[in-house]
Amino acid sequence: PAHSLTALLLAYMIGSIPTAVWLGKVFYGIDIREYGSGNAGATNTFRVLGKKAGIPVMVIDILKGFAATNIAFIFSVNNPGTIPFINFQLSLGITAVMGHIFPVYAGFRGGKGIATLFGMILAIQSEAALYCVLVFVVMLLLTKYVSLSSMMASFAYPIVIIFVIKEPVRSVVLFGICVCVLVLITHQKNIERLLKGKEGKANLFKRN
Ligand code: G3P
Repeated sequence: PAHSLTALLLAYMIGSIPTAVWLGKVFYGIDIREYGSGNAGATNTFRVLGKKAGIPVMVIDILKGFAATNIAFIFSVNNPGTIPFINFQLSLGITAVMGHIFPVYAGFRGGKGIATLFGMILAIQSEAALYCVLVFVVMLLLTKYVSLSSMMASFAYPIVIIFVIKEPVRSVVLFGICVCVLVLITHQKNIERLLKGKEGKANLFKRN
């Protein structure tokens, strides 16, 4: 129906907000995509502009996924928690993630989707989201590679929903598997650099 399309369009527009690009342009006069990894995401904002810019980008990009997924509460004709409702949430969240990766307001060159995916997972299944954060943080402390930690956290996601949470909704499990594939696709360049030993390590104790 028409209102689902409106909701999906809204989700895409929310996901499309190119936080890293706009913040870099407005406050620092740079296009973040010309620096560091060239990615318009929180990680590269931390890398190039430091914490003061990185934290807001991270928070807003997470909120985009969270908000877009929860538009379901406004637009769905089904009750929260029912399978059609959850499927609608999944569609909205994925649409927002696609908006983040291909933002209409920034020449379709956006980020890799990690923060926005995280916001979406937080909205759908906060318990699994916490496990993912744990994997991410442990991997980051151990390896200092943000990209590798992001990939490991996204591989942990379907494992957690299948074996720990024992998620009964099949579409959520399928989504979990798709997350891994999507993250592998958006991290292709990182994977190449990791294999060549050329991926930059995060300076976790930088003060700016
Ligand atoms: O959040 C994306 C991260 O996993 C990699 O970002 O800038 O190091 O390519 P980047």
